[in-house]
This record gives sequence, C-alpha cells and structure tokens, in this order.
Amino acid sequence: MLPEEIEISQNISVNIQAFFNASDYDKVAVLVDENTRLHCLPLVHKVIKPTDIIEIESGEEKKTLDTCVRIWRELTDNHYERKSLLVNLGGGVIGDMGGFCAATYKRGIDFVNIPTTLLSQVDASIGGKLGIDFLGFKNHIGTFELPRKVFIDTKFLKTLPERELRSGFAEVIKHCLIADKDYWKIISDVDFKDQNWPDIVNHSVEVKNKVVEEDPFEKGRRKILNFGHTIGHAIESYFLQMDEQRLLHGEAIAAGMICETYLSGKFCNLPESSVKSIENYITETFGRIRISLEDIEEITKLCLQDKKNVKGIINFSLLKEIGNSVFNVGIEQNEIREVLQLYARP
Ligand SMILES: NC(=O)c1ccc[n+]([C@@H]2O[C@H](COP(=O)([O-])OP(=O)(O)OC[C@H]3O[C@@H](n4cnc5c(N)ncnc54)[C@H](O)[C@@H]3O)[C@@H](O)[C@H]2O)c1
Repeated sequence: MLPEEIEISQNISVNIQAFFNASDYDKVAVLVDENTRLHCLPLVHKVIKPTDIIEIESGEEKKTLDTCVRIWRELTDNHYERKSLLVNLGGGVIGDMGGFCAATYKRGIDFVNIPTTLLSQVDASIGGKLGIDFLGFKNHIGTFELPRKVFIDTKFLKTLPERELRSGFAEVIKHCLIADKDYWKIISDVDFKDQNWPDIVNHSVEVKNKVVEEDPFEKGRRKILNFGHTIGHAIESYFLQMDEQRLLHGEAIAAGMICETYLSGKFCNLPESSVKSIENYITETFGRIRISLEDIEEITKLCLQDKKNVKGIINFSLLKEIGNSVFNVGIEQNEIREVLQLYARP
C-alpha cells in the first residue's frame, strides 16, 4: 500500500488534472532543466498550465546554493506566496534541490514531484530527504519534508539515456537484495535491457516506502537502504575529483554493492552461492570499474569520512541472506581495503 501522496500510473495526466481540480493554488511554477524542458514538459504542460517555468542547468555540479538563490529569486520576483506551488519535473537533482527551495521559501510552500529518471522514480522522490551539495560534500545542507504529491509514470524513461537508466537500476537491485528475495530472482533472470519497467518501479517504490514509513528519520531500520552506499559513496566522491573518469551515482553504488556483498559473506554469513550470484549479475550489468592500488588507499580513507563512522569503526548495512538485511555492523578500515582489493583483482 502506498501513501496518499504517491501516485503511480501509466497516464499521470489524469491524476495531475484531478489534483489541480481539487486545489486552489494562486501560482504554479515548474522547475526543469534543459533536458526535462525538452523531453518531459510537453507531456504534462497542458494539465499543469504553469504560471512560470524556472529552468536551471542540468547536472550534479549545479545542485548548489547558487542555484537555490536563482530559484528563490525567481519565486520572489514573481510574487510567490504561501498559497503557491512548485512542481519539480526532473531527476534527483531537480527533486532534491527544488524540494529544498520550496521547503525553505517563506518557511515552506507546497511542492509536487514528477520524477523523470529511473533513479528519482524508485528512490530520490520517495522519503522526503531534500538538499544540496556544499563545499564539495554531497547533500551537506538539507532537510526532511514530504511533497504534497509524487506522480510517477514510466513513459518519461523512453527519452532517458541508457547510461542514466542503468544507473537507476542499481537502486532497484539494492531494494531486492535488502528486502525481497523473490523479486531478486525475477530481475536477475532477465537482462537489464529486457526488464519490465512499470512493474519494477511499482515494486521498488513499495519497498522504499515501507522502510521509510517504519523509520522516517533514519534512527534505525531505514539504514538498510544504505547497503552498497558506504563504499559506493566513497568511490563516487573519489572519482568525482577526476574529470576524465566521472561516474554516475548508480555505477558507484553497483561497485559498492559488490564490495559490501563480500563483507556480508565474511561478517554476516551470507552464503557463498549468494555472494557469487550477486557479484556475477552486477558485474554482467555494470562491468567493473578499474581501480588501482593507489585508488584503493584513497577510497579506504574516504570511507572514514562516512557519517556512520564512530572512532575508526565504520557502520555498514549488510545482507544476512538475499532479501534479509541488517544494519550497524561495525567494520574496521583494513577489511574495507581487503574487499576493494578483491573487487579490483583482474
Ligand atoms: N533524496 C533522496 O532520497 C535521494 C536518493 C538517491 C539519490 N538522490 C540524489 O539524486 C541525484 C541523482 O539523480 P538522477 O540520477 O535522477 O540525476 P539527474 O537529476 O542529474 O538526472 C540525470 C540526467 O538525466 C536528464 N533527464 C532527466 N529526465 C530525463 C528524461 N526523462 N529524458 C531525458 N533526459 C532526462 C537530466 O537532465 C540529467 O542530465 C543526486 O543528486 C543524488 O544525491 C537523492
């Protein structure tokens, strides 16, 4: 069961229309980037009838305070008040930053998410985490606030570049591994290109939403969503500094999930057959990132900066079995170095 604010449909226009019929916003701004303005806005423009369109440049490097200032300025110049609405039409960058701007503008105006990437449909638009990057730290400034509605429709995925689609698929894999063994069997029997996206999005949203509902502010069980992300984020941050080898979020998380699967085998008795099947499917789908010995040292150091690090022991979310996960498993730095070496072996 999904909460009232999340609506998944193969024709969201009807739902959007019903939402606007039942509300009385004085102004509606739609936040887009150049890609979602071109590919996604035409699919919903007629039903939203925006008062203003705010366009920002696409990309993680634009998820900054400077861009927020531009958004707040446009809202201010166009006299947006507490009864106005911001619609975030785009991927996780638009959703995280637009939500943050709305939640803080005049102490909060309503916002609606229309996620247009696989990653934002199955992950970023659910759960109320909003924010921006600051001084090179990801999601460093932010807050929790739920959108009034999330309208999800997989038709947006048709124009999404394949590399972006694959990146979002990493979070789908994660949801199966932490919470649903049967669904893991379904997806891991099928090549990435032949997946049933409407089914997958439904399933993933249900998994994430259930976990979030149990623990909205990540005091406990919500931490299982971090499977693959402790080492994955360190890999992502490390390669972020190297312009020639930029990684997408899901590509780094895929590598992180392989490393953390090795840790699960060693520290949580995840059976060897499961370790192998996870490693093989993720490698077939994403390939392997080339990581040198020097990279391994730097990535290991970056893991120590993780928010879940206490006195040099890093807390991981790991798998006991496929579909059964645990959190707060304390692991020492040298073990991280070892699994990165295993990942990097030829
Ligand atoms: N809030 C959360 O819980 C949460 C969870 C996971 C990730 N995130 C955040 O999400 C962000 C990544 O999101 P993302 O992967 O969606 O990246 P993104 O928002 O940068 O979008 C990826 C690219 O796809 C383009 N695009 C979007 N929709 C399109 C479409 N339908 N057709 C063609 N092009 C399209 C965008 O313009 C962009 O160039 C990161 O900032 C990450 O921190 C947040």
